Amino acid sequence: MKIGFIGAGNMARAIATGLVNSGLAPQNISCISGDDPTAANLAKDLGANLAANREELISFGDIVLLAFKPNHLETITPEEGDFAEGKVVLSILAGRTLADLAKAFPKAANIVRVMPNTPAAIGAGVATYCFQNEPSDELKANVEKILGALGTAYQVVEEQLHIATVINGCGPAFYFRIVQLLGEIAEKHGLDKNLAMTLASETAIGSCQLFNQSDKSAQELIDAVTSPNGVTHALLQSLDRNGFPNVLEVSAQDAVDRSVELSEG
Ligand SMILES: NC(=O)c1ccc[n+]([C@@H]2O[C@H](COP(=O)([O-])OP(=O)(O)OC[C@H]3O[C@@H](n4cnc5c(N)ncnc54)[C@H](OP(=O)(O)O)[C@@H]3O)[C@@H](O)[C@H]2O)c1
Repeated sequence: MKIGFIGAGNMARAIATGLVNSGLAPQNISCISGDDPTAANLAKDLGANLAANREELISFGDIVLLAFKPNHLETITPEEGDFAEGKVVLSILAGRTLADLAKAFPKAANIVRVMPNTPAAIGAGVATYCFQNEPSDELKANVEKILGALGTAYQVVEEQLHIATVINGCGPAFYFRIVQLLGEIAEKHGLDKNLAMTLASETAIGSCQLFNQSDKSAQELIDAVTSPNGVTHALLQSLDRNGFPNVLEVSAQDAVDRSVELSEG
């Protein structure tokens, strides 16, 4: 697999570094960026190639990976787009649809649209992705290898990317907000705020790991920590009484609506 990165910032660095660490020779990677030296730095750090221009970059490999800001897609010229003839274009650009990408790269053999998330920076990301056309087994394996550099990845169909975006793309901000709010609440109750946030985040990590490793359902795990009329029971009853499930449903719908709106330009 040879892969060329357009954009060499945080996400490209995480993917390229993960690929090299998993055995891809750095000579099989090329990159280019904007006016700042992110691509030069990435190429130097990994021993990868630095492309002189986008035509050279797009011609370099079998896969062209787009890792610049979403609004820069329109800077791809028709001539540059044509250089991707027969290649696979993989995009991590938030909100840019397969149709947008196909407009920029009309001759690509296949296009992969990915929604990664920020824990990718520490290899703990979870990505969702979809293909323009049914992929070959080899392409699927290569995409899984590339996204494996960021954590885990799951295939969906494009329409599902709106709700997937809310869950895995916006998810980190949701969990950071929970940790922040619990810290503020604990402070009001006289507990050190930083300690409370650490307790909240470590409890979230432990609970989710338990959920992932257990064969029990979420409800069974809830039941296992809830005694009748106990403290957890009081917390859960209050959350339901005060509309927590409804708040989540309405907020998720608002975010899905915004995702649809953005994808329609
Ligand atoms: N960070 C996340 O967790 C996350 C989550 C979901 C989606 N994404 C998507 O991932 C993409 C990259 O995010 P990031 O956090 O890695 O961004 P970033 O660190 O800001 O990197 C952006 C890169 O794009 C380059 N660039 C700027 N103008 C360019 C141009 N005209 N042509 C080509 N390259 C250009 C920059 O180069 P110079 O600075 O060297 O000029 C830099 O290498 C975004 O589209 C974002 O929507 C990121």
